Amino acid sequence: MRVLSGITASGVPHIGNYFGAMRQHVAFQDRAQEAIYFIADYHSMTSVRDAADRRRFVREQVLDYLACGLDPKRAILFRQSDVPEVCELAWLLSTVTPMGLLERSHAYKDKTGQGIPTDHGLFAYPVLMAADILLYAADLVPVGQDQKQHLEMARDMAQRFNHTYGEVLKLPEPYILDEVAVVPGTDGRKMSKSYGNTIRMFDDEKTIRKAVMGIVTDSTPVEAPKDPGSFLFQLWNLFASADERTEMKARALAGGLGYGEVKKDLAARLLAHFAPMRERRAALAREPERVEEVLADGAKRARSIAAPILAAARDVAGLGPARG
Ligand code: TRP
Repeated sequence: MRVLSGITASGVPHIGNYFGAMRQHVAFQDRAQEAIYFIADYHSMTSVRDAADRRRFVREQVLDYLACGLDPKRAILFRQSDVPEVCELAWLLSTVTPMGLLERSHAYKDKTGQGIPTDHGLFAYPVLMAADILLYAADLVPVGQDQKQHLEMARDMAQRFNHTYGEVLKLPEPYILDEVAVVPGTDGRKMSKSYGNTIRMFDDEKTIRKAVMGIVTDSTPVEAPKDPGSFLFQLWNLFASADERTEMKARALAGGLGYGEVKKDLAARLLAHFAPMRERRAALAREPERVEEVLADGAKRARSIAAPILAAARDVAGLGPARG
């Protein structure tokens, strides 16, 4: 079984990325025969327009992955643009992709609906994403619920290509990551770079404490019962055992528990949870060449998987000289 997923490098990773994706990616390196992850820097071009930012976000993402336990010996970790062949497959796919399919994309409709000016890159985003998956013949693609439609589109494009030219592309299965993994941000909306409501696991301690203390709460007095389902408790739950959660729920319902106390405890738990990873990250950051070494090795291994698949796709489509 080959597992593959990508993360768009559009900012510095936060605990929403960690619980929503990175943690599961790390776990798959033990469960899957092959785990392939890449930092989608081509995709980031639809939102990040600063070259230095893009390089920094890629670097931070790699450091965070390694710190969180991704083992580049077991899993393949690479930078999407280091295997530019993906753009060629994206072109091949785009010629069998109906406009109507892309026009139905939620991500695209959301942006146009909000009146955000769109470009062809954003419109064609699902085609590049399909190429990412099909180029490596992935069996299983773990993604969040918000990416489910993109996966269905990838299957659709693979089928259309295979039907038009010959069976060379493998249909991937989506693996929708746990809904519990949708982490609320400090304002209760989904944690997202674009909302500015994130808590980053490797900020300095003071910044993290400040972000946690800034979690928005209502004005229920200390003595009154609290809603144990509110998002402060959802965040706290991420760092607690089942027993601790039950106990906290009872305390919230009983009244007499202040939000401030919960926040302080959350900050302490969060810092403790990421402490070993923070240490590993600091050690990694002291070896500046390390990130590029990991990426270069990852790209080499990724390319050796991609090359025969692209060659087969070109061949059935009648590109280049006929193969013997
Ligand atoms: N679009 C995905 C996201 O924003 C990132 C991504 C790009 C991806 N290519 C992919 C995920 C291929 C899975 C497979 O989360």
